[in-house]
Amino acid sequence: MKEHSPRRWVSQGPEDTFRLAADLARKLKPGDVLALHGELGSGKTTLVQGLARALGIDRPVSSPTFTLINEYRGSCPLFHIDLYRIRDSGEALELGLDEYLYGNGITAIEWAERIAELLPPGTLHIRLEPGEHPDERLVTIQGGRDS
Ligand SMILES: Nc1ncnc2c1ncn2[C@@H]1O[C@H](COP(=O)(O)OP(=O)(O)OP(=O)(O)O)[C@@H](O)[C@H]1O
Ligand SMILES: [Mg+2]
Repeated sequence: MKEHSPRRWVSQGPEDTFRLAADLARKLKPGDVLALHGELGSGKTTLVQGLARALGIDRPVSSPTFTLINEYRGSCPLFHIDLYRIRDSGEALELGLDEYLYGNGITAIEWAERIAELLPPGTLHIRLEPGEHPDERLVTIQGGRDS
């Protein structure tokens, strides 16, 4: 998807984040990589749950913190990666995670900054930050590819 200038939203709760993810999903294409940034509990997995729902995936989407990667078959394959337990790009390469960065699905990566130097140039960066009340999140989307 093409999304060069930063765009910001305020999400007032998980359902809002699902809606935002659904809007986003409509613009995504196979091969797109989403780097999800934000602290523990900021809503990265929640956003991927919204993407999955929008891609017609019925299976529950849980956090791949221990499995590192979960694969789902929707209208387009969805690869959900969580790098919380990965130290750096070297470790990610040893585990073969780079193949998902140039694959045929939509790849959403939590803690993507751990492999910053491996992310393809057209990566869409999504940042979730705390808002003014407990359920509020400030969401910034930046990046994307041309074609
Ligand atoms: N506006 C919001 N958007 C997303 N999640 C929200 C929002 N408001 C509250 N929440 C809650 O915050 C929590 C976010 O948890 P989630 O697992 O998505 O975070 P995460 O960023 O994936 O954390 P981790 O780094 O541990 O994987 C959920 O319990 C969710 O219901
Ligand atoms: Mg998570």
